[in-house]
Amino acid sequence: MSTIGRNGRDGTTLAALRAAEVRVGYGERAVLDGLELDIAPGTVTAVVGPNGSGKSTLLKTLARLLRPDAGAVFLDGAEIASLPTAAVARRLAVLPQGPTAPGGLTVGELVEQGRYPHAGPLRMLRMQDHEAIRTALALTDMTTYAARPLDGLSGGERQRAWIALALAQDTPTLLLDEPTTFLDIGHQLEVLDLIRRLNRERGLTIVLVLHDLNQAARYAERLVVLDRGRVVADGAPQDVLTTALLAEVFGVRARILADPESGAPLCLPYAVVGRD
Ligand SMILES: Nc1ncnc2c1ncn2[C@@H]1O[C@H](COP(=O)(O)OP(=O)(O)OP(=O)(O)O)[C@@H](O)[C@H]1O
Ligand SMILES: [Mg+2]
Repeated sequence: MSTIGRNGRDGTTLAALRAAEVRVGYGERAVLDGLELDIAPGTVTAVVGPNGSGKSTLLKTLARLLRPDAGAVFLDGAEIASLPTAAVARRLAVLPQGPTAPGGLTVGELVEQGRYPHAGPLRMLRMQDHEAIRTALALTDMTTYAARPLDGLSGGERQRAWIALALAQDTPTLLLDEPTTFLDIGHQLEVLDLIRRLNRERGLTIVLVLHDLNQAARYAERLVVLDRGRVVADGAPQDVLTTALLAEVFGVRARILADPESGAPLCLPYAVVGRD
């Protein structure tokens, strides 16, 4: 299921996802305006930025959960708005921020939903679908929770069930909005290691929103920094995470060291300095 090496007609590699001149918001108000973003296949990109900067709006737009007022999103080169829903769901899975499900739904039933885009016309699950569900539950450490209702789980267990749903979809592209919220430090690392493995071993294209800048720097090869709806920095973590950026975008005075194990930049915030 590698996504690497698909080429456009002119020989250039097609972006797995591309936002072109996107204006999108809620009602009259544009949150993102003129946004341009290309996500190369087989890469891990972290979107970071302050609360309300537009990260979830961006992810929802890339996943076609929000429709741009202007511009377009392209998935594997095709305009996403023109693709059938099941075709989008076979190519792209999304974990939204704060997802909700009907009351009483069990973990197993939730994760099963991820297979319907692959099922035949009668929505019958086949052997490979059950296998994908089992794998997704095992990868998120949720096998023993399959029969439990979602609304009877802890915040972290519920979050892992939603991640399992996205994994069961078995898509070449994954969009994850704050996948580590609610998780204890062990399960945070487990999810981030899983993301890295899916990328390295299966070539998945992954875009994730993270608040922990150190985790973002360690697990993503590219950081996209949003501030008030604009991309204000975009590049390798060591180029993006500077004391100036932390002051300007996050309003904090920080020092930046090198992580002694990975060499990735490590931010130590000391004080709130405010921002314009
Ligand atoms: N459903 C909505 N209706 C109206 N405005 C919204 C809606 N969702 C988000 N907004 C507004 O759009 C802007 C961007 O919100 P968004 O959720 O994209 O931010 P975010 O960067 O994901 O923030 P956070 O880190 O808090 O999750 C904010 O000003 C927010 O108030
Ligand atoms: Mg958000």
